[in-house]
Amino acid sequence: MPSATAVAHPNIALAKYWGKREGAERMPAVPSLSVTLEGMTTTTTVTFDESLEADLLVLGGVVLAGRPAARASAMLDRVRARAGIALRARIESASDFPTAAGLASSASGFAALALAASRAAGLTPSPEELSDLARQSSVSAARSIFGGYVELPVPPEGAVALSAALVADGSRLPLTVLVAVTREGEKSVSSSAGMALTERTSPYYPAWVADAPRLFSRIRGAILEGDFTAVGAAAEVSAIRMHAAALASEPPILYWTGATVAVLEAVHALRSEGLEAYATIDAGPHVKVLTRPADAAAVRREISRVPGVRGTIETRPGQGARLIPTEGHR
Ligand code: PMV
Repeated sequence: MPSATAVAHPNIALAKYWGKREGAERMPAVPSLSVTLEGMTTTTTVTFDESLEADLLVLGGVVLAGRPAARASAMLDRVRARAGIALRARIESASDFPTAAGLASSASGFAALALAASRAAGLTPSPEELSDLARQSSVSAARSIFGGYVELPVPPEGAVALSAALVADGSRLPLTVLVAVTREGEKSVSSSAGMALTERTSPYYPAWVADAPRLFSRIRGAILEGDFTAVGAAAEVSAIRMHAAALASEPPILYWTGATVAVLEAVHALRSEGLEAYATIDAGPHVKVLTRPADAAAVRREISRVPGVRGTIETRPGQGARLIPTEGHR
C-alpha cells in the first residue's frame, strides 16, 4: 500500500500573521516571520488504501469526523488531483505536545500532512510547492515546511500561489523559546474565526494591517544582524498589537487567562531585574517566552513558579518538515 511518514514542528511567529486578504483564498493580509521549533513534533503517516471508501483521520489514536476530517480530506483532494489518483487514505497523526490551544498544532499538522500525502501519492514537490500546499489548509503551516527563521510575505495582487521562504538558519540567532502551558484543552475561538471577526468588526484592524509590514521589516533585519534584544522587543510588540486588534472586536476576543497575564507580568519583572526575556502569544492562553540560551534555566525557573502555569516546554530553532521511515515498513 503506498504509504509515507513525515515529521514537522510547530512554528512561533515573531511577526504575527492575523488577517486574510479580502477576496483571496487563505492569503495573508500581513507579512509574517516565524521560527520553527525543535522540541515539539507532529508525526503523520498517510496510507492510500483501495479498501477505504472514505478518508479516515486518526489523531492521537482517536478517529475524528467533522471539520478536522473535512480539512484533512480537502488537502488530500488537492494531492489526489495533482497525482491523478482517486484512492482514499488513512491519516494517522500524533503530536507530542498539547494541541489546538494556541500551540499551533495546525501548522505542524498540515506541514507533515502535505509532505506525507504528497510522497505517498508518488509526488516529489519542491519545498515551495509543499509550502503552498500547506498554506491552502492553514496559512501558518506554510512556514513549518522550512526550518530556522522563515518568512511568509504578502502575495502580489491576483496571485494564486504563495510559499514561505527561509530567512536565516537557526544558528544566525541562537534562541530558547520556553512555552508556558497555562491551560490544557481546546481553545474557545479558532484562529480562523477570530481573524474573520477581527477583520469584520475591529476598528483597530486597519491600523494593524497598515503597521505590520514595518514591524516585520524590523524583526527581519534584527534576525539577520543576530540582535536578540531588538528581535525580542519587536516580537512582543507584534503579539500585543495582534491581540489588541482582536480584543477590539465585537464581541471581544479574549484568548488570555489570568495565568497568561501573570506570565506577561513575570517576564516584565525579569526584564526590570536585568534578565532579558520577551513574550509572545498566539490564539490561545499559553505564553511563549523568548530568551538567550544562557539565560534559559533561570528564566524557566521563574516562569514555572507563576501561579496557573501547568508546565514549561523548552524549545529552540529546529528543522523543517521531513520524511522518516514508516513504522513497520523499515
Ligand atoms: O494559520 P493559522 O490559522 O494557524 O493562524 C495562525 C495565527 C497565529 O498563530 C496567531 C499567528 C501566526 O502567525 O502564527
